[in-house]
This record gives sequence, C-alpha cells and structure tokens, in this order.
Amino acid sequence: MATLIKGNILHFPNTTQSPQNDAQYIVDGGMLIENGKVVKLDTYASLVDKYPDAERHDYSGKLIVPGFIDTHLHFPQTEMIARFGEQLLDWLNRYTFPTERKFEDPVYAEAIAHFFLNQLWQNGTTTCMAYATVHKSSAETLFKLASEVDMHMITGKVCMDRHCPDWLQDTAESAYEDSAELIAKWHKKGRNKYAITPRFAPTSTHQQMQKLGDLMQAHPDVYMQTHLSENKDEVAWVKSLFPNSKNYLNVYDSYGMVTDKAVFGHCIYLDDDSWRTMADKNAIVAFCPRSNLFLGSGLYQFDKAQAMGVQTTLATDVAGGDSFSMLKAMGEAYKVCQLQKINLDPLHGLYLMTQGAAHALGVETEVGNFNTGSYADFTVLDPHFNDLSRLRINEPRDPADVLFALSFLAEQNTIASTWIAGKPVYSRTGDTK
Ligand code: GUN
Ligand code: ZN
Repeated sequence: MATLIKGNILHFPNTTQSPQNDAQYIVDGGMLIENGKVVKLDTYASLVDKYPDAERHDYSGKLIVPGFIDTHLHFPQTEMIARFGEQLLDWLNRYTFPTERKFEDPVYAEAIAHFFLNQLWQNGTTTCMAYATVHKSSAETLFKLASEVDMHMITGKVCMDRHCPDWLQDTAESAYEDSAELIAKWHKKGRNKYAITPRFAPTSTHQQMQKLGDLMQAHPDVYMQTHLSENKDEVAWVKSLFPNSKNYLNVYDSYGMVTDKAVFGHCIYLDDDSWRTMADKNAIVAFCPRSNLFLGSGLYQFDKAQAMGVQTTLATDVAGGDSFSMLKAMGEAYKVCQLQKINLDPLHGLYLMTQGAAHALGVETEVGNFNTGSYADFTVLDPHFNDLSRLRINEPRDPADVLFALSFLAEQNTIASTWIAGKPVYSRTGDTK
C-alpha cells in the first residue's frame, strides 16, 4: 500500500559545505512512500495521477522537512527540565544524580521513556542519540519502545565508577559486560543502534576507560557518546585528575575513543590541538546552545569548528537544555553565533539537524533527507500556527525565512504532524492524520 504526501517539501539531497545553496524545495510537492521508505519525490501534480490508489495526506501550505536528529540529550532528565540556580558540577550533584537514581526501577524508567518519546515526536524529532542511566534496563526500555514504532534510536547505558554517589556507580567490569550485552541484543536490531556511553572523563576510572576503549575497538560500527569541555570548572577538574594529558580531548584519545563514531557534547573550551585532533579523526560535536546558555557554560565557536573542518551537529541536551524543540535549538544557535558576530543561515541550521547530522553519523542512506530509499521520517511545520506567525510569515514564502521565523516563534502547535517510517506518530489535536 502506497502513501502520497502533499506539501511544500524542503530537504538537502546531498552532503554540502554550503547548505544555503543546496536545498531542494518543491512547492506543492509530493512524496510517495512504500514500506516505510521514500520511493519518489516530485511535484504532487506529477505523482497523483500515476498512483491513483495511494492513500493521500494533504498538508498544502505547510512545510515538510526531514525529521529532526537530536544528537545529544538525556532521557532520564526529562522530569528535571528547567531546575533553578546551578552550573554544571553542582547541577549534577543537586538535581541530576538523585533523579537518575529513580531509574533503578524499570517500571518507572519505562513510564518516563514513553513520555520522553512523545515529547520528541511532538517537537518533530525522529532520530535521537540519548543517554540512558547507569542502569542497563533504562537503555533497554528505550530500545524496546522505539522498536514498537520502528524509530531510529541510538542510546546506551551510562558508565561511571567514581566521583558520583555509590548508588549510581557501576564498575569497570560491569560497565563492559552490560554494554557488551546491550550491543549484542540491540545494536543494528531493526533501526536501533548502540552508543558506548562513559558519562565524562571525571566519572570513569582508568580501568573503566580502558575497558570501554577496548569495547569500541571490538565494535568499530558502534557509536560512542560523552561530554567534552563544557564548563570551566569541569575543564580544571579534568586537568587535575589527568595531569599527564595534554588536554581534555587527549584523555579520551589515549583510550582510542576519538573516532568518526564519537559524538562529543559541548566542546566549548578546546585548544587548537584539540580542534585539529577532532578534525583529523573526523569526530563529531553536538552543539547544545540552549544547555550552554541555561547552565551558563559558554559559547560554542561554530566559526572555529567550520574553519578547522570539524563536523558540528545540533542538539537539545535535555535537561541541561530547557526545551525539546530542535527548532528552538536552531534559534538559540543563531543567538550564540550572533554574540560572536557570526550569522548562522537558517538553511545551515536545518542542515545541522537533518542531512548534516545524518552524514556525520554515517546514516545518510537511512535518514536526514527524502532521497529514494531513505526512511519516510518527516515533520510537518505549520507556518500559520498562531496569530503572530500568520502576521510575520506572509506571502511570498521563502522557505529559509519561514524556518528562521519558526526557530524563534515555535510553540508546541507549530508541529502539525510527525511521521516515522511512513506512519504518523503524532498529530496536533484537531488535525486529521
Ligand atoms: N557532564 C556530565 N554529565 C552531564 C550531564 O548529564 N549533562 C550535561 N549537560 N553535562 C554533563
Ligand atoms: Zn549532556
């Protein structure tokens, strides 16, 4: 059974250095879907007569973009979003660790995982790279629920065996064994993928880092996610814990963890040597502007990353970040760049959270675009979702301007619908699917 979607369709068919020039935009476009994947993309008029039996969904006047890819967030932190008064290290101790403790109860973990996925979909996110907690079952729960809708899910059990409360610690051995078991059970099963997840250098012993580095080498197609150079006190702490490392990145590098499968959250305070290493190893940055502002961490140097040839993706970092909205992350990235006198083009912003992220993660044949064979993961944006957006976004509709305005004005009902593998997982109340 084929499905035919109608709307104004915007995506990046290719990897590019200049997204502002390389978007494909089809007004009154049609996307033909079969078996959860894109079969054809063209004008609606050219497809509708050829596929008279297709189930039709009319999103005329709305903007259809690839489902957003959020490359860094913490599903167990959902309930502690927007907590007052602390910067990173105190915030971890005061709010994060006590919250993550609750996930020792798998029933609780499943309820929050369910809530979390719905938040993603209500915000147009269809791929996420999420941290679970130290508990193996927390990662399993997310894989299990994502599998029920055939969602592209990357997650992993957090590993930490020091400098956090006893009740939240694993060991070097158990971190290795639990992660290895999760890889065997879930990695590349359906659309699931595993990410080995040392929380950050301060919370892992040398033994644990070595074990996790070994695990990466044993599974070169598995991802790694961690935090890097987010906060000045954190950077100073790492320097005192690893006096022989030339910089923070070098701690990870010394365990073989800096690869093209490694996603480093934040990367605010990097020296030139670290930027070069990131570029040489094709490692990936998750730029988390809302978190960096909310926790007062600092400003990511997007222009430096571009100049050094380092791949940047965009992320919410819930719940260091104070919103699930990738559109708003894009708006906040613009502001972080403005503070450094850089203009982040809205099409470049969209690229960072669709095709650019897919390319960085090596999954651009699966997600991030509407090329034939990619999964039909998309979100439908309504430029006229309230009075203010109707006033601001009027004719003629330049898609870059629409996106730009939405990245600041976006609210929950900006997203009309979100689809995963050719099926709606969210539709705004009052809209037909
Ligand atoms: N560094 C170590 N753990 C965390 C976390 O949970 N959130 C953020 N933003 N930074 C971290
Ligand atoms: Zn984080």
